[in-house]
Amino acid sequence: MIKNFVYTALATAAIILLTSCNSQPCNIVQGEVWLDTAGNPINAHGSGMLYHDGVYYWYGEYKKGETILPEWATWECYRTDVTGVSCYSSTDLVNWTFEGIVLSAVKDDPTHDLHPSKVLERPKVIYNSKTQKFVMWAHVESADYSKAAAGVAVSNSPTGPFTYLGSFRPNNAMSRDQTLFVDDDGKAYQFASSEHNASRYINELTDDYLQPTGRYTRNFIDMSREAPAVFKKDGKYYMLSSGCTGWDPNQAELAVADSIMGQWTAIGNPCTGVDADKTFYAQSTYVQQVYGKKDLYIAMFDRWNKTDLEDSRYVWLPIEFDNDKITIPWRESWSMDEYENQR
Ligand code: GAL
Repeated sequence: MIKNFVYTALATAAIILLTSCNSQPCNIVQGEVWLDTAGNPINAHGSGMLYHDGVYYWYGEYKKGETILPEWATWECYRTDVTGVSCYSSTDLVNWTFEGIVLSAVKDDPTHDLHPSKVLERPKVIYNSKTQKFVMWAHVESADYSKAAAGVAVSNSPTGPFTYLGSFRPNNAMSRDQTLFVDDDGKAYQFASSEHNASRYINELTDDYLQPTGRYTRNFIDMSREAPAVFKKDGKYYMLSSGCTGWDPNQAELAVADSIMGQWTAIGNPCTGVDADKTFYAQSTYVQQVYGKKDLYIAMFDRWNKTDLEDSRYVWLPIEFDNDKITIPWRESWSMDEYENQR
């Protein structure tokens, strides 16, 4: 008993040390239980990130409680009840403060998209400087996974509460794994797996970011990609994605385009090193540029634990840029301090 207590205390202290920026170095350690500033495991999966007024906000699926496989399941659609979208804030991307559930489940209405019996995945939040609103898009599903829609919510503050506005299929097309991207000119786009995940739609959004404009492209036809993470570097657009094998890992792929609504070209698996063909047993969710650091872009992945989804972990790796060659090498741990400061 005492021995167990000592081991637990030592392990907790080690995790706090490894992820603390107050003690050097400021490390990211793959697949560990990552504690927030209150000492609880960070619970934000299929996440997206927002940088606003010097603060990073990490939004994700709050997967709380028992993981179940529905009785009717013909595939491994493991799930927890919908509890909502969580938010954490940080100025250094290592020490995260829990800001609460910013979009909550709706428990008393079984027909509501956010009822615990439904599915809520891959929330992403962007800021609209014209309306000064924070806009969230997420994948919302019926319990039987046939809805394939995008749910939209809005808030006056990055830490919520978000008001749910409803769901729809953008441009009348299925919308499952999804992300949002805001370009330098303020135009926003939703990238969604569509047509039973066989293709990807890129949907341009209205100026208030609440609807599609009707302008869209169909991409990666019959290529079955999920888990999109989009970023821009040196004028080019990149999309990291996974294949379609549910919670199980598969090979990542990077695609590049000169314009968002233009031609996208797949350029192969950027992951290198041990288990690179399985994306290090993880799946892409977001790429975040680190402001104040030279060329530091973090590729963020979920390491799903399909039979205990609450215990899914995180893999965060720096992307390496060598002219046109882009790689994501495996590293057990790394430190942001390795990257040159840049104003
Ligand atoms: C994955 C997808 C996840 C989740 C899961 C359900 O392929 O990326 O977001 O939907 O399937 O099995």
